[in-house]
Amino acid sequence: MLPSELTPAPLERLSALLERGGTLVLTGAGVSTESGIPDYRDELGNWKRSPPIQFREFTGSEASRRRYWARSLLGFRVLGEARPNRAHRALADLERQGRISGIVTQNVDGLHQAAGARNVVDLHGRIDQVTCLSCGERTPRATLQRELARLNPEWTALPARIAPDGDADPGELDTSGFRVPDCACGGMLKPDVVFFGENVPKARVESAMAALERAASLLVVGSSLMVFSGYRFVRAAERLGIPVAVVNRGHTRADGVAEVKVDGDAASTLDQVARRLC
Ligand code: APR
Repeated sequence: MLPSELTPAPLERLSALLERGGTLVLTGAGVSTESGIPDYRDELGNWKRSPPIQFREFTGSEASRRRYWARSLLGFRVLGEARPNRAHRALADLERQGRISGIVTQNVDGLHQAAGARNVVDLHGRIDQVTCLSCGERTPRATLQRELARLNPEWTALPARIAPDGDADPGELDTSGFRVPDCACGGMLKPDVVFFGENVPKARVESAMAALERAASLLVVGSSLMVFSGYRFVRAAERLGIPVAVVNRGHTRADGVAEVKVDGDAASTLDQVARRLC
């Protein structure tokens, strides 16, 4: 162990790790905050707001569904217009240069792909898609957004604070009159994202795990890793002897095992690394 003044700075160690190539990147809400999409937890890993809706609550209560879609009509306005930031662009550049092998994201915003990343696993699904719980048909969220606006014109201009996952907080509002369309088959529509209380589809986890098994290292960016669905990749990396690096503002559950931890902003850190290596 070198005396601390001789230890290469974390940014240099991160660059050296990525320079070797074959890094799989696991991202979370922190990569998208610069795009105006809030994260869930603070720098200590505690919830910043009330936890998102549970799958059972959504499917089991019509009142909850009305409330969900009313808030989502407002939230999607912002999310649908969000653009990739420097973190997404740097990761896409690093992928093009062969430094990273792919991205597994817990985010549902599609911003990695919008920045040009090609090999992306959307672990928790995509908010720009809607699925029918009866017939399984997937349709664009933009279509449903137009239909929600047509059925509820008085809602479209309400001010609301944006929340994660395309949710919004308009304050206490009576949503009992909010109209929610069904699928053409009569089934219940749900955003094509994994809600709390739902499992990530097995095939998706397996393809992300297979990518990890082929990887030379795992880089976690902008995730507290408080949710097992992401944390399991750090546990697997430990088992496989794959080195782990972290870029995150604040605490993560990988801090104890990370060979490199950059406690800072994802966008400026990745931007600097990409400039060095690309
Ligand atoms: N740069 C670096 N880190 C940041 C930035 C930033 N610009 N902005 C926020 N962060 C950090 C926060 O301090 C926090 O530690 O990113 C982390 C985000 O963690 P979470 O909010 O817990 O998000 P995430 O880990 O993606 O959550 C996982 O939880 O609710 C579920 O399904 C949801 O996919 C989500 C999952």
